[in-house]
Amino acid sequence: MFNTVLEKPEKSPLQIDQGKIPEDIEGSLLRIGVGEFSQFDKPTQHWFDGAGYVINVDFIKGKAFAQWKLIDVQSPVELNSQGPLLGRFGLAPKGLWRRISSTWNYDAYLNSANTALLHWQNRLFALYEGSIPTEIDFNSLDTLGPTDLEVVKRAFSAHPKYHMPTRSYYNFGFRVLPKPCLDIYKLPDEGSPSLLYSIPYNGCTFMHDFAVSKNFITFFCSPVFAHPWAMLVQGKPLSECMKFQTQKFSEVIVIPIQDPENHFKIKTSPMLFTHTANSYDDDEKITIDGVMYKDGSNLDWINTAFLGEHQSPTSPGQLHRLEISIDDKSLSSKQLFEEAIEVPQMNLHYLGQLNHFYYAAGYDKIAEKHEGFYNCIYQLEPHSGQSKQILGDSKQIFSEPVFLPRSTQRSEQDGYLAVVHHHLEANTTFLSLLDTYEDSSKVICRLSFEQPMPFTFHGLWKALSPSG
Ligand SMILES: [Fe+2]
Repeated sequence: MFNTVLEKPEKSPLQIDQGKIPEDIEGSLLRIGVGEFSQFDKPTQHWFDGAGYVINVDFIKGKAFAQWKLIDVQSPVELNSQGPLLGRFGLAPKGLWRRISSTWNYDAYLNSANTALLHWQNRLFALYEGSIPTEIDFNSLDTLGPTDLEVVKRAFSAHPKYHMPTRSYYNFGFRVLPKPCLDIYKLPDEGSPSLLYSIPYNGCTFMHDFAVSKNFITFFCSPVFAHPWAMLVQGKPLSECMKFQTQKFSEVIVIPIQDPENHFKIKTSPMLFTHTANSYDDDEKITIDGVMYKDGSNLDWINTAFLGEHQSPTSPGQLHRLEISIDDKSLSSKQLFEEAIEVPQMNLHYLGQLNHFYYAAGYDKIAEKHEGFYNCIYQLEPHSGQSKQILGDSKQIFSEPVFLPRSTQRSEQDGYLAVVHHHLEANTTFLSLLDTYEDSSKVICRLSFEQPMPFTFHGLWKALSPSG
């Protein structure tokens, strides 16, 4: 899990252990996570500080060919001669002046390029939310290098969202200095990216994901504060300084895509919002489904999991529905399922529209009993309230599922789910395929990797045909 991956630069077939690969799966499954756990032969101090690696599995005529490579992350030039590279989360710069200067010099930190992927205009990017994108060659997985796309100011979030009406991706970046500011970017299918809008933000917040519906971009700002005294004077790393503030409000910012000046904000009870599942709107309201925690213990879990302690969050992540009334600018929130889940996914052909199926990594059955990494995959149906575990094993770790729509699609659930999972005792990593149209709880094919693979956070599916 936390050992540096041995690269596989050339594509070769993945072994099929069970079943067979449907021939109508044609395209590439890409996944990204931390693949390197040391810098200058010293272990990294935080999971998120390690350099990213990308897995690509090509599905062609019933066969799967895989390769994976580490991303050649860029060294902060200023610090090369002064000592080890700095991770953003687990290490603080030595000396008060370097700590102060690093708060506005983002280049002081390693751009670890390890969190998520974006495929835009036939280009592939590895994303790390506090830094600019890193471009990767899609065919070779070679690192082409960081790029600001001639528009990005310092930060570019890990979760760009595609917006069908404008045929564009939208994404955001949150800058702290010189004044906290939320920058919203538009990346059209054709033409150059642009800065759609910038909103000054009063203070510090946690924003990992956001929502894009037909007419609105919505941000959920969680009350997480990085204490400047602990960071600058005491020299504590960021991961130890980020605190969820239970006495503060969360804030929702709603931005009309066609009229961003006319945005509005709503205060609500403190919640940690991590990943959006889907969002859609009509004349009356915006609906956003996403994972929320009642406190910040999930941030603590991320720190302890890396240390091998697997301390459980006191509050499970659960799928919630936010409804924002457009007329009276009010918000309501309800929990949709009791299951503890994360990284919800869906058929992306339905993104921005009413949908009926989510698939998520999660914890077995009872929300209060979750611990360690996700040990199952759920199918969740928010309109019927039905949920079922479709894959699970207490001896295995499951990562975010990716939905592969069938090219001849008959309904929303017509496709396959691709799930990478790791058996702890066998120390073997698998890729399982489930047919969500016929029987979502049956593995129709299981492939195995030739070596144990570090955990991957997020992935994407690039179909060979435009309709897939
Ligand atoms: Fe994420």
